[in-house]
Amino acid sequence: MNRRPRVLVTRALPEAGMKKLFEHCEVTVFSAERQPTQEELHRLLPEHDALICTLADRIDRDLLASARPQVISNYAVGFDNIDIAAATELNIPVTNTPGVLTNATAEIAWALLMAVSRRIVEADRFVREGRWQGWEPQMLLGTELAGKTIGIVGCGRIGLAVAKRARAFELNVCYHNRRQLDQAIEREHGLTYVELERLLATSDFVSLHMPYTPESHHMFGRAEFRKMKRTAYLINTARGSVVQESELVEALQHGEIAGAGLDVFEQEPIVHPDLLALPNVVLAPHLGSATLETRTKMAEIAVENALLVLRGEHPLSLVNH
Ligand code: DGY
Repeated sequence: MNRRPRVLVTRALPEAGMKKLFEHCEVTVFSAERQPTQEELHRLLPEHDALICTLADRIDRDLLASARPQVISNYAVGFDNIDIAAATELNIPVTNTPGVLTNATAEIAWALLMAVSRRIVEADRFVREGRWQGWEPQMLLGTELAGKTIGIVGCGRIGLAVAKRARAFELNVCYHNRRQLDQAIEREHGLTYVELERLLATSDFVSLHMPYTPESHHMFGRAEFRKMKRTAYLINTARGSVVQESELVEALQHGEIAGAGLDVFEQEPIVHPDLLALPNVVLAPHLGSATLETRTKMAEIAVENALLVLRGEHPLSLVNH
């Protein structure tokens, strides 16, 4: 290609991460304020050689077949927003940004866990609303962590990072995964592999870290909540659709579980209205990777992946090998 490659970026990414892209390519940044509609993607993508998109952009077969970009570089570790089978059939490499958001996502899982179990959001509201009359022996009592059990569902990079931090809080850690980890890793991090049923029955905190796939769709529904302790908390920083949200609402309303910390939702950015009314739920707008450090590194990797493919080289993290 004699001309500079044209790259469509659907959202404005942290500047430091974009530098290299601007040096080497003609770049169209769709918008800082909103994601493009499907129509806008269909109109814009054919004029570009590559796409850097976010998890909010739906990259379906129609779009891939009509636009035929040289590469789809997803600005996320998850890639359930992309029709990978179609991309593979059409020979379009898809890349993601693994590794760099492990700590940030593990940290937000802990932030939600601690916020919901120590009622931090309720407490903040209580103080701001001027309802605090003085110290009280039984005001806003929460749940202690030390000596309790956390169950990690999906023990890949992020699940493991959550598990590592659990030891500092003196929690017992069990996990369930598609495949059991090496014994050396289990020993090093004090992890016990258990079947899901057992994890649900014994955990005081259940933290979800599996990818969203057809197999994990609604993996947590009525039956799973009923198997959890009534005093247990659910933390979801994975993907909204691994949980059947209407059943979660029921479980919370009927005291089948004690509370939830949620960073992800089935129909983002729409949140089930009943969740908004529940005091024992802490909500965040999909902030798992939202630190300046991580989002900048994600941009660097997304840019590098796109540039490498455009140069005919192997990207750093190819999803559809
Ligand atoms: C990802 O990259 O998949 C995360 O959900 C972003 O926060």
